[in-house]
Amino acid sequence: MVAEPHVQIEGLTLSYGPRAVVKNVTLSAPRNGILGIVGPAGSGKSSMLTCLNRTIELTPGASYTGTVRLDGQDVRSLEASDLRRRVAMVLPLPVGLPMSVYDNVAFAPRLAGVRRKTELDEIVERCITQAALWDEVKDRLDMLGTRLSGGQQQRLTLARALSTDPEVLCLDEFSIAIDPVTTMRIEAVLTELKERMTIVLVTNLLMQARRIADVTAFMLNGELIEAGPTGDLFVFARDKRTNDYLAGKFG
Ligand SMILES: Nc1ncnc2c1ncn2[C@@H]1O[C@H](COP(=O)(O)OP(=O)(O)OP(=O)(O)O)[C@@H](O)[C@H]1O
Ligand SMILES: [Mg+2]
Repeated sequence: MVAEPHVQIEGLTLSYGPRAVVKNVTLSAPRNGILGIVGPAGSGKSSMLTCLNRTIELTPGASYTGTVRLDGQDVRSLEASDLRRRVAMVLPLPVGLPMSVYDNVAFAPRLAGVRRKTELDEIVERCITQAALWDEVKDRLDMLGTRLSGGQQQRLTLARALSTDPEVLCLDEFSIAIDPVTTMRIEAVLTELKERMTIVLVTNLLMQARRIADVTAFMLNGELIEAGPTGDLFVFARDKRTNDYLAGKFG
């Protein structure tokens, strides 16, 4: 029996007002794998991500048809806050909350009712460690998160995303503002994390998809042109547009 995909997008069409920017996309993310999504600016990658945890519903004028399933369940049948705990999102630029490093990570667990200090300490250390940031901040957990460097803040954002113990982790161009060394550290972290969760990685860095995505999807003007095992796609894409893009001929 073929395992059911963890995340299944079916016939998704997303519009801002009358304008469709994601067009009838069907795509799935393999369980405990990394789905890479690549494509030129404006191809609808970020918009599509917002349907996975229904943050699209917070955008005025946006609407969608089609279905996103999490473990076979239509995400519209789930309670939004539950869904957003299960499907975490890391946005392109770090969004530090104006509070200490510790509180940034303890925020969501506290909201969820965790009160015991020892339990919070454990969550904070685990998540910051998973985000490859622990050694740099362990002695200054009381410092304002916004005082960290850009790359550290991005990893703090990742730690915060991990604090709800999500089963799906979506990252939208996480490395846009960070240096290559930090990027490689986070890539290594993601490769470890996928043992425990499913990762959807939108990236403008083709080589990043090539390095760590198990499956890569190529989007262009809102359409899914092609998706397949990363090695295959980069070596023999079926569609000329995929080939041209992956070869750096446009985008
Ligand atoms: N809130 C919005 N209201 C109206 N149009 C939007 C909104 N957000 C995005 N768009 C439009 O939708 C299209 C797809 O944008 P989206 O951000 O999803 O693309 P993307 O593939 O993530 O691009 P990039 O690589 O630049 O991040 C673009 O034409 C964009 O202008
Ligand atoms: Mg985007």
